[in-house]
Amino acid sequence: MAMTALPALLLVGGGRMGGAMLAGWREQGLASAIVVDPSTPAASLAGGGVLVVPSFAEIPAGFTPEAVVLAVKPQMAGEVLPAYARFAGQAVFISIMAGKTIKAVGAMLGVRAAIVRAMPNTPAAVRQGFTVAVAGAHVSARQRQLADALLAAAGEVAWVDDEALLDPVTAISGGGPAYVFLLTELMERAACDQGIPAALARQMARQTVIGAAALLAASDEDAADLRIAVTSPNGTTERALAVLRADDAWPKSFATAIQAATTRSRALSD
Ligand SMILES: NC(=O)c1ccc[n+]([C@@H]2O[C@H](COP(=O)([O-])OP(=O)(O)OC[C@H]3O[C@@H](n4cnc5c(N)ncnc54)[C@H](OP(=O)(O)O)[C@@H]3O)[C@@H](O)[C@H]2O)c1
Repeated sequence: MAMTALPALLLVGGGRMGGAMLAGWREQGLASAIVVDPSTPAASLAGGGVLVVPSFAEIPAGFTPEAVVLAVKPQMAGEVLPAYARFAGQAVFISIMAGKTIKAVGAMLGVRAAIVRAMPNTPAAVRQGFTVAVAGAHVSARQRQLADALLAAAGEVAWVDDEALLDPVTAISGGGPAYVFLLTELMERAACDQGIPAALARQMARQTVIGAAALLAASDEDAADLRIAVTSPNGTTERALAVLRADDAWPKSFATAIQAATTRSRALSD
């Protein structure tokens, strides 16, 4: 969704994800925002209508945000969030904290607080993110639209009604970039093992992943069909895939890995 003007915005936590989202809002024509973050790197987020303050106490009196984005680590929530209950009457809270349920966040901000829980991923830094969001009971249609516009500045957004889905979403799209980066690392290492010089191995692995992603983006075909198109019967790729797809290799370990991440996401909300 294209935005012409963003509302008064408060970002709590200007780290990797918060900083990436802020970059997207800037590109969309952010007029003004306040970032609360005590870290030294966060100071560089200041400028162009963005004020960075180290703590809640430093937020200028009278500032009335329409949206408060909660982007601190989940383990900080209990300590950090209660002060922000002050904005619960007027603002929609957008929490991107992994594993923190709407109920848990509501317990810190007030049970009537309007809360959207969202799970973005790091390609948000280049506006290619994917976010899945769920709206709490007190979120108005207008607040949901506002949250959608803010999240869309980081890439594609999908909404679900069942909050329980956020745990597998965290495992698949939240952590997903890490699995693709691991694949890139493994390809690079395997190339080196085959005697390919290190610089060429790095270039090959990176560009193969970038090229495959671009092909996926440009094509209407399923990933499976694109895979089959590379796989000649009895050829070299078929040999490699037979190893990777053997019972105890990729398919099984990947499913087990996603289950482990989903279980961890559930545990974080306990
Ligand atoms: N990274 C991902 O792939 C990803 C994906 C989806 C969701 N998330 C969620 O996004 C949230 C942030 O993750 P991240 O990777 O961006 O972490 P991060 O880089 O550590 O960012 C968190 C920031 O919050 C700051 N902070 C600490 N105490 C604060 C306070 N009292 N008030 C305001 N800011 C404070 C931290 O400063 P210090 O460094 O000084 O502590 C840091 O700059 C997490 O809840 C995570 O679950 C992350």
